[in-house]
Amino acid sequence: MPTVTLTSKSPAQLSADALVVAVAQSDAGPQLLDADWLPSEVRTELISVASTLGVTGAVDEVRKLPTAGRIAAKVLVLTGVGPATAPDAETLRRAAGAATRELAGTQSVALALPAEDVAHLTAVAEGALLGAYSYTRYRDAEASAKAAPVASVEIVTPLVRDKAAKAAVARAEVVAAAVHATRDLVNAAPNDLYPAAFADLAKAAVKDAGRGSAVKITVLDDKALIAGGYGGLTGVGQGSARGPRLVKVAYSPSRPVAKVALVGKGITFDSGGISIKPAAGMDAMKSDMAGAAAVLHTVLAAAQLELPVAVTGWLCLAENMPSGTAQRPSDVITIRGGKTVEVLNTDAEGRLVMADGLVAAVEEKPDVVLDIATLTGAQMVALGTRVSAVMGSDDVRGEVVTAAEGAGELFWPMPLPADLRAGMKSKVADIANIGDRFGGMLSAGLFLQEFVGSTPWAHLDIAGPSFNEKGAHGYTPVGGTGVGVRTLLALIEARAGAR
Ligand code: BES
Ligand code: MN
Ligand code: ZN
Repeated sequence: MPTVTLTSKSPAQLSADALVVAVAQSDAGPQLLDADWLPSEVRTELISVASTLGVTGAVDEVRKLPTAGRIAAKVLVLTGVGPATAPDAETLRRAAGAATRELAGTQSVALALPAEDVAHLTAVAEGALLGAYSYTRYRDAEASAKAAPVASVEIVTPLVRDKAAKAAVARAEVVAAAVHATRDLVNAAPNDLYPAAFADLAKAAVKDAGRGSAVKITVLDDKALIAGGYGGLTGVGQGSARGPRLVKVAYSPSRPVAKVALVGKGITFDSGGISIKPAAGMDAMKSDMAGAAAVLHTVLAAAQLELPVAVTGWLCLAENMPSGTAQRPSDVITIRGGKTVEVLNTDAEGRLVMADGLVAAVEEKPDVVLDIATLTGAQMVALGTRVSAVMGSDDVRGEVVTAAEGAGELFWPMPLPADLRAGMKSKVADIANIGDRFGGMLSAGLFLQEFVGSTPWAHLDIAGPSFNEKGAHGYTPVGGTGVGVRTLLALIEARAGAR
């Protein structure tokens, strides 16, 4: 993660490797934003050169220009904000992120973007940090250095001595670190990140949080899961040589004003099991643990921010593999608490491990339970790869949408039509794990609803947005995106009354 400093110096005097300025799209060609510090003849020349080079100011357009010694920085970087001449927070977040992302391999970057008030400054800081990410675990030193994220970020703002601004930047650093850590877990290869390895990493992360930290971690292994009646986790995990785990990470501040439970799907690889998936694209199923990763790092971030809310995360970890010990279509399993499920398709495994996690979470009587999962391909059919879905109790669903809006993530409310429950009727058990062909995301949500009782609840389906298989954009890299962390944290902060 880059270091962040604030400065009120004139951008012309900043001797960074690159100085970033916003450029907007207009009928009259590209327009520089907040660039009054440049002499007007330089601005005019710059715009004319930029136009000639094809710069338009479109979103995700990042272009380097030589400074010819006119300013102290080595290169001037134009980052597009689209048609808006007064860009909103998320537009700025993306423009700042696109710039730092494109500037990987550069040491120091100064950002002279519109950052006059705390909200805009926060957006610039968050975007810059979120964009400064690369995953190089499996690359050699040379390739890693080339892709190295920007090391230092200097933001031009009049708010250098403003207390709220400083606090906002400190928060942005915690949030971005949590998002980066979530991406790292999603990007890890599944031969390295199997359930027990994930649990060990969670333990190490909790230890890193420090001795005085109010975070406790408990890991249930295969034996403990069988003994505890967690039939979803054991059923899904039994086909793999690497057994399932249920990890509980609990942050308990001294005087909590609320109690939130988070449940995350942690399928470290989803082959589909005996109902095996087609070979094409199966590699992306290493990302089927993105929900659990987001939960782990949301809990740790809440602790780091010392929020006055008790937050317990439940990581439902298993590997879904076909083998001689794997569960079969027509197996009947018993979820913790006693409900039976007929497994008609072993590829609908997420809802089985999540059912166990939800029951365990609800046993502790939280005020609200939020689950987050790469649950259905149908989510992507409905909303594409950049918009996540949220279902659940009307009020909690609304709370998630509001939190997401503030955080700059896209979550769209979806219904839980009761009539779809009939499609999950089983000839032999309480419920089957698949339902009608149409509305697959909603059936999955209705399935989970069976296990939350009367606890206020929302279900976040992040199947598409959690893993970016196309090109990078804004502050979003290729691979793991870390989606969900910012929304969950914003919701916890709202419950804390902090924001
Ligand atoms: N992990 C998948 C869902 C998924 C698909 C996530 C694509 C991200 C990208 C889930 O376990 C799954 O396989 N769901 C099935 C359910 C079906 C068998 C009812 C699906 O969506 O096809
Ligand atoms: Mn599956
Ligand atoms: Zn899955």
